Amino acid sequence: MIEVQGLTRFYADRPAIQDLSFSVPRGQVLGFLGPNGAGKSTTMRILTGYLAPGSGTATVAGFDVVDHSLEVRRRIGYLPETTPLYKEMRVASFLDMMCRLRGVAASRRRARVDSAIEACGLADRRHEVIGRLSRGLRQRVGLAQAIVHDPEVLILDEPTAGLDPAQTRETRELITALGREHTIVLSSHILPEVSATCDRVLIINHGRLVADDTPANLARNIGGGQGAEIEMVLQGSGAEIESRVSAIPGVDSVAVSPAGDGSWRVVVKTSKADMRDELARAVVEAGFGLRELQARTLSLEDVFVHLTTEEPA
Ligand SMILES: Nc1ncnc2c1ncn2[C@@H]1O[C@H](COP(=O)(O)OP(=O)(O)OP(=O)(O)O)[C@@H](O)[C@H]1O
Ligand SMILES: [Mg+2]
Repeated sequence: MIEVQGLTRFYADRPAIQDLSFSVPRGQVLGFLGPNGAGKSTTMRILTGYLAPGSGTATVAGFDVVDHSLEVRRRIGYLPETTPLYKEMRVASFLDMMCRLRGVAASRRRARVDSAIEACGLADRRHEVIGRLSRGLRQRVGLAQAIVHDPEVLILDEPTAGLDPAQTRETRELITALGREHTIVLSSHILPEVSATCDRVLIINHGRLVADDTPANLARNIGGGQGAEIEMVLQGSGAEIESRVSAIPGVDSVAVSPAGDGSWRVVVKTSKADMRDELARAVVEAGFGLRELQARTLSLEDVFVHLTTEEPA
């Protein structure tokens, strides 16, 4: 549905994005994750035809974003980073105008406006002047204008920025629901948001792609197979635990620290995919009391920090 090939864009002599390539199949919800200044908004502006790429190509539904920007915009709902709303208009008439501009048939306009207003929790605000709404409510109007013409593709630049926790949750649910029938690209630097709503995550840093995977795989495969960590709480002698556990085949390293009440927190690093069963058996056979055992998986946050703070090679 979206094809991006070697996209590069400079501002003056500084690259905002460099040689980005990815494709998004129909129906996928893709998260675009990166720190401030990574190039997320720049990429989204190019995809929506609002900014010309320096080099490289991008197509949406088969239409080139430069050569057929009108066709592209008709198929896309775009929530920009700062929403250019008509502040003097009322919510419902603004949405109706956006429908007209995007060629929605007159007979469908009322229903489309109602459904966008409903979906974005604006039912009791439909006759208010946009300029008098709070920031979060304006963000909802921005989201409503992105979906009002029922586009196939949604490009949402930080859709939950400025929303309160309840509305953040509702917006995530809305995105998940929309994701069943739409292709969605959303940007965020909030990791739980991406893991909650996206099928796939692209991590971008300094304008370059540094990772492309499912949220679960990213958390699992950090740093090119560093292996897993298993944390146990054992009872027995600390020194003995350290020497016996180190000797278990497959264990790369062991860190033992006091965990109170004469028990020990034991963190085992291993290059094996999952040796929980073996470890449990081995420590019990060695005569230690096993109180807890769990695999530590890295959160997306760990992955993100790892991938974006590494010095370039
Ligand atoms: N209009 C502009 N003129 C000059 N430089 C720009 C312009 N817009 C963006 N940049 C630069 O391009 C780079 C990428 O910016 P971009 O807005 O795409 O980042 P972002 O990932 O969206 O960041 P954020 O999380 O802060 O929204 C930054 O270094 C930024 O300073
Ligand atoms: Mg941005």
